[in-house]
Amino acid sequence: MSDTAALLALNQRLLDAIMSADWRTYTELCAADLTAFEPEACGQLVEGLAFHRIYFDVPLHSGRRQATMASPRVRFLGEAAIVTYVRVNQVEAEGGVQSHAFEETRVWHKTESGWKHVHFHRSRIH
Ligand code: GLY
Repeated sequence: MSDTAALLALNQRLLDAIMSADWRTYTELCAADLTAFEPEACGQLVEGLAFHRIYFDVPLHSGRRQATMASPRVRFLGEAAIVTYVRVNQVEAEGGVQSHAFEETRVWHKTESGWKHVHFHRSRIH
């Protein structure tokens, strides 16, 4: 598997953990000092994992959910990698399946214990 394919597989594993509310896998893949901009943070840069935990403890949806990376790109910068894509979330809802799209950038850092997710930025596409 190429380095690019490996990073995409790792990033998809992270998205799958988010979509299935798998906190254990999420914390394995993320640095403890993860930083993030995301719509849920209302314009604030959040640091650490505590902010994200509520979404795993109180999942917004109980039905089937999946996240797809569309047109992904991986850029390696020494011991770091930047993964960019449009994320399409499909969520089971009353009356069918709803889709929502987001521009997403995730930064990974190669450490002695493997790749760790250190920063992300997600913007909703309206
Ligand atoms: N909201 C958690 C994440 O996207 O990593």
